[in-house]
Amino acid sequence: MDSNNNTINSKPARYLITAALPYANGLKHIGHLAGAYLPADIYVRYLKAQKRDVAFVCGSDEHGTAIPIQAMKEGTTAQAIIDKYHPIIEQNFKDLGIAFDIYHRTSSPLHHETAQEFFTVLNNNGDLEVKESEQYYDEATATFLADRYIKGTCPVCANPNAYGDQCEKCGSSLSPEMLINPVSTLSGNAPIKKSTKHWYLPLNRHEDFLRQWILEDHKNDWRTSVVGQCKSWIDGGLQPRAVTRDLDWGIHLPLTDSTKSVDRQQLAVSQTDAAGKVLYVWFDAPIGYISATKQWAINNEKDWMPYWYAPDTKLVHFIGKDNIVFHCIIFPVMLKLHGNILPTNVPANEFMNLEGDKMSTSRGWSIEIEDYINGWIKKDNGGDSMADVLRYYLTQIAPESKDSEFTWKGFQDASNNELSNIFGNFVNRTFVMMHKHCSGKVPPFHNDIIDDADKQLIADIKEAAIKVESLLEAYKFRDALFEVIDLARKGNKYMQDKEPWIVAKKETIDGQLSEAGKKRIDNCMHLCLQLTANLAILIHPFLPFTAAKLCKIMKVVDKILEWENAGRLDLLKVGYSLREPQLLFRKIENEEIEAQLAKLKASTEKKVEEAKTTIEQPVVANEPAPIAAEIVFDDFAKIDLRVGTIVAAEKVPKADKLLKLSVDLGFETRTIVSGIALHFTPEEIVGKQVTIVANLAPRKMRGIDSNGMILMAEDSTGKLHFINPETAITNGAGVK
Ligand code: MF3
Ligand code: ZN
Repeated sequence: MDSNNNTINSKPARYLITAALPYANGLKHIGHLAGAYLPADIYVRYLKAQKRDVAFVCGSDEHGTAIPIQAMKEGTTAQAIIDKYHPIIEQNFKDLGIAFDIYHRTSSPLHHETAQEFFTVLNNNGDLEVKESEQYYDEATATFLADRYIKGTCPVCANPNAYGDQCEKCGSSLSPEMLINPVSTLSGNAPIKKSTKHWYLPLNRHEDFLRQWILEDHKNDWRTSVVGQCKSWIDGGLQPRAVTRDLDWGIHLPLTDSTKSVDRQQLAVSQTDAAGKVLYVWFDAPIGYISATKQWAINNEKDWMPYWYAPDTKLVHFIGKDNIVFHCIIFPVMLKLHGNILPTNVPANEFMNLEGDKMSTSRGWSIEIEDYINGWIKKDNGGDSMADVLRYYLTQIAPESKDSEFTWKGFQDASNNELSNIFGNFVNRTFVMMHKHCSGKVPPFHNDIIDDADKQLIADIKEAAIKVESLLEAYKFRDALFEVIDLARKGNKYMQDKEPWIVAKKETIDGQLSEAGKKRIDNCMHLCLQLTANLAILIHPFLPFTAAKLCKIMKVVDKILEWENAGRLDLLKVGYSLREPQLLFRKIENEEIEAQLAKLKASTEKKVEEAKTTIEQPVVANEPAPIAAEIVFDDFAKIDLRVGTIVAAEKVPKADKLLKLSVDLGFETRTIVSGIALHFTPEEIVGKQVTIVANLAPRKMRGIDSNGMILMAEDSTGKLHFINPETAITNGAGVK
């Protein structure tokens, strides 16, 4: 059995809490927030209130094809994309009170080193397998094509723009081989198959371990949906997973250090094998949790090692359900092989839908966090409370055991009917009456007149503290929040039953409140104030901005929010004077909700229009391709470029795109087959000077030997231009 299983009985020495690293390829939406970041933040705030030793790490996931693809869309570089989105995402989290101890980046050198070291350890221990396989390759751009770089017709729904990994129209997950008429999105050409070497993590070797660890040891303490997904992966047969990719954006494979002796030299990576390859993004990204921990430790002069090696550390990954296999199967196998601790729990959430449909950025059917911040938090005076309103509603509808649904009407109801009318109202009435009947000071409690209602409320406060704690320990955030609001509801009922305002009226004779009446009002207000202090403690993990406001009106420092104070009835000292009440939540009007619905409709219509125009376009995006991998001068020097004149040109029979050219290089005339027939007629190019690659290995095209390649530039409209000298020069001249 896992020694960390029962956390209430045996407290771990330290906690490492992670939230999935978001791709820095665009803005994140509220579904992401509800899935990982908000529950993680609630849990961490609770642990910190418990004075536990906690590191809460997150950061941007800056590798994978998602980044260069976004760069193509925005007509910029991958580096520019991550530099743009990383700080925005980081700030968005802050504005919503998501308080990471570090928000790191996987593009940092520390992360690159950490991931390379990890790979090297596994590789040198013989825990990886190397295999050659045939992969799609784009000859025009000389690149192996990542799944996302291949488009074609979906075999399921016939969408002509399906990607090699997924059809975004019908949602089917695909592999490039399944596409009908695959084309490279880089050149628009049909790719060929070419052999390439890759490193694999043989998950099949770890089936016994995974079965025991997940399906036995954790079958009761992990969420049923998580265990269920893992079971179907394991039962479906675990396969070796490639952990390297032919791509130029990412972490390069660590090379063999020839100065060090490696036991199993044959497993080390040679320069040739490593060229053009990077670690698969899902290999490096979770290691980002480790590098983030290291950086956090550096910043805070701590030792990071126990957080990843000591068995009394409790590691918890907060994620959405699409990340389960990576966090429950692949990363744990990596951690085990590398000698690290394993996660104690992976409380993955299901999905949150929006107004009856799946949330999707590409279809414009989502609420971007940035948009919410601008539209609700920044616009409002004291708009922090609107951050808490979102945190409240997202927790209330958290998709903990099944998919849930965000509706703007539900948002309005949660805010107006629960936060305002129950929680806010209780606090407000308490403070107004305390000022009116107790001259703004905490009144004493008179034990001689304690009655059943008082006793019941005291018991309710104590019980709520215990219930909320055990629900939070069990990752049941929805239920825990319900208990807090329910306690406020009980407070309202208590006050309603005690009617201090009626007591004040009835017991006042000749403008003088009777002694007995005063004592009854004192007791009611005393308990309501102690309840307010308790509500501040219990609501704090969920609604930190509200808890801070409560501390302010109670004139107490936030030390009061420590969890050990929950359930206490002496938090506010008798005679202590308190501030005037402050409205905690404003009312959300119908017009505001209608405006949001209209906005959602407009944004999805806009995306549909945009999508139409992109479908009509050819598959080739006329946007600058990402810069190819760096080369050294010697690589460049190998290419022999020469100027020559086209002396003859003719169409190649049965090949629409090809022209057969004769190019005079001065010392010889070459035959070159070029794919430019759709752009130029033979007549118009005869006599033109061009630049050719003169030492390219000959290739047979349609039975003709082609001895070289003509250089061409493509403008943004897709038109081709020859690269030639300004004025005619001697044929055969070298180009450097
Ligand atoms: N970037 C991934 C996503 O958005 C999540 C990465 S989580 C990590 O789905 F563990 F790999 F970091
Ligand atoms: Zn499809």
